[in-house]
Parts: sequence; structure tokens; C-alpha cells
Amino acid sequence: MRIVNIVGARPNFVKIAPLIQAMTRRSTFVPTLVHTGQHYDQAMSAQLFQDLEIRPPDFNLEVGSGSHAVQTAQVMQRLDPILEALRPDLVLVVGDVNSTLAAAITAVKRGILVAHVEAGLRSFDRSMPEEINRILTDAVADFLFVTEESGRVNLMNEGVDPARIYFVGNVMIDALQSSRPRWENSSIFHTLGVEPGSAYAVLTLHRPSNVDDADTLANFLEAFETLARHIPIVFPVHPRVKQHLIRQGYGGDTQADARDLLRGKGIVYIDPLGYLDFVALVSRARLVLTDSGGIQEEATMLGIPCLTLRDSTERPITVTHGTNRIIGSDPARILDESLQTLRHPPRPDGAPPYWDGHAAERIIEILDAYRHAKGSTPA
Ligand code: UD1
Repeated sequence: MRIVNIVGARPNFVKIAPLIQAMTRRSTFVPTLVHTGQHYDQAMSAQLFQDLEIRPPDFNLEVGSGSHAVQTAQVMQRLDPILEALRPDLVLVVGDVNSTLAAAITAVKRGILVAHVEAGLRSFDRSMPEEINRILTDAVADFLFVTEESGRVNLMNEGVDPARIYFVGNVMIDALQSSRPRWENSSIFHTLGVEPGSAYAVLTLHRPSNVDDADTLANFLEAFETLARHIPIVFPVHPRVKQHLIRQGYGGDTQADARDLLRGKGIVYIDPLGYLDFVALVSRARLVLTDSGGIQEEATMLGIPCLTLRDSTERPITVTHGTNRIIGSDPARILDESLQTLRHPPRPDGAPPYWDGHAAERIIEILDAYRHAKGSTPA
């Protein structure tokens, strides 16, 4: 089965790593890897490939930054001739970024089967670009691989044929578990000067609704500064946020500054971390504050208390089973909830169903069974 796998942005790399590995283990699969180039910095892209031991992409579309329309259109325009030349049996997309949607539409219009990994998640907030990407990708995908029960229910409620839906678990957790020996050996604690056992929180922020408006961002920073008087906060700054922060006079810490800050209290602004260093940092944190989707899931699996700085989550299992709470963006609430969580950390209720490190294998098994049934032969 010839499969073109699409990645574009940071969370995609984490999801594709176990899938490419599982495909490579089977002689009946011929995987091709296409990087759209949506994320292109060393820290946002190359470092993740290295950390997750992903082989270099066969194609890089180099679309880079741009408006949603430009980014989506350029992926479509540059991917189309590749699909025309390769004529794969299937295009596999992951997650909910612009590259995911663009590749799914390009493939389906060529009559190529589409598999969507992480299908069915819904925040029910259509102002999020990712929600639009999820809805549209699911509408055209032939194989809908879901990570949690809510995904299956949402798709059924949208009238999707149940035969297209497969509850397989979470490939992000596959990546987390298989790389454990390496992230447990991360030198990030040494780099930041974090003593073993010392208390700190980890913060990430990048949603357009949270960071693009100067007043909203300033409100967040006020809350974090107050919280940082109680516990130091390590803040790996996403490029989207960096430009806003610099404009407002924040950021730019050197490693020496970071050490000083961690010894006392404060916010430590650092560049985005690689996968292994970031997971290592989260794994020993007292608290995670985030607006990311994947980090809610990773915190749940690691048993680290997580406060989500949004009004909704498309990953409700992290709240019902995990350590996650949805707290919005009000500064007083952020402080209250953080202090309460530090005093009374929630306990996870066991791993969610199928979050067992074998999701990628299940997906490949399903695709292989389909190939077998159709009698398609490997290239
Ligand atoms: C994208 C995804 C989001 C995902 C996030 C993870 C969409 C709609 N959004 O958001 O779902 O959670 O990635 O990080 O697809 N930039 C750099 N260097 C890079 C990449 C981006 O400087 O390597 C800058 C861009 O110039 C742009 C900003 O960061 O100004 C945002 O990048 P973009 O890809 O548009 O969206 P993200 O906010 O990263």
C-alpha cells in the first residue's frame, strides 16, 4: 500500500513518528513523507525530526508563513503534482492544522483515499481555525481514526457512516511512551539550573485568540506575573507570541538569567524546546498552564496537573479521566485555580481507553486489512 503521509506543523511531527515507524516495519507498506514547510524554524521543525527519529521528508513544499488562505492554497498547489506523479493508494493526514485540511482536499479531489488520524475532536468553537480544519477534513476523509470516545460520538452526531469510524487510541501517547528512555535522560534541568525536586510550572501559549490581541496578552502576563511570585514559571515562547512579547518589552532571557530566575521566583522566557526536553520538563512540573491541545493529553498521561487557558476543549477525556481543567482567560481565576491546584493536585483516573502505546499499530492493521480485502499489491 503506497501511502503519502503529510506533516506541516509541530504537533504533526509527534503524531507521524510512530505511524511512519509502524509502516516501515511492514513490507506491504511503502510510505512517502511530505513536509509542507508550514513550520520551518530549527526549533519548530528540524529539532523535532531529530528528537522523534523521523527520517527526512521525501518532499518539502516550503510553504512557510502566510495567511490561512495563502498557506492552505500553497499546500494544495504544491502537493497536487506530487500526488499526480506518485498516484498513492492513500493520503494520511494528522491533527487539525492548515496543512491537514489542504492535503485532505487535494487528495480527495484526485480520487485518492484519505485517512485522518485524530478525527472527530470538536471544541464546538468555530472561531478557532483548527475547528474548521477538523470539520472539513473529517467531511472528506474515508478512514476516521479517533483517539477518544467523544470523537466517535461527535462523528455519529454529524451523521457519519459508522463503518468509516475506528476508535484506535492516541498516537501522541505512542510517541510519549516509546521515547521515554530518551526524555528521561534530557539535560534540560541542568541547562536551566533546575535542582532535582524543585517546584516550577510550565506555560505555553499560542492560540490566536489568546495572543494576537495586545490587551488579552497583557492580561495573561499580569496573571502569570502574580502567579510567578508563588512558583517560578518556565515559558518556552512560540514564534507567534515572541513578536508580540518583544513589542511589549518582555522576553529575551539568556540561560544565565533563567538560572537566576529559577532560584528565585519569576517567569523564565526561553526559546521553544525540542520534544524530548519539553516532555522532560513537563514530567517533573508541579503545574502546566497551556492553550495547546496535545499538551493537555501529555499532561494527563504523565499525571501532571494541567490548567487549560481556553473556554473549551476538543479533548474532554483529559478532563473526565485526566488532570485537566478548563479555566478560560480571566486573570483572577488563573491565579485562584493555579494556587488551589498546587495545594490539592488532581489525581488522574487511569489512562484513557487505548492510550497504551499501540495506536499506530492498530491503524496500520486496519489499513493492511483493507489492502488485503481489496487485493491491492505493494508497489
Ligand atoms: C499552528 C496550527 C496550530 C498548532 C500550532 C502548533 C494552524 C491553523 N494552526 O499554529 O493548530 O497548534 O501550529 O505550533 O495550522 N512561525 C515561525 N517559525 C516557524 C513557524 C511559524 O516564525 O517555524 C511564525 C509564523 O511566521 C507565523 C506564526 O509563527 O507568524 C504562526 O505560525 P502558523 O503556522 O501560522 O500557526 P501557529 O500559530 O504556529
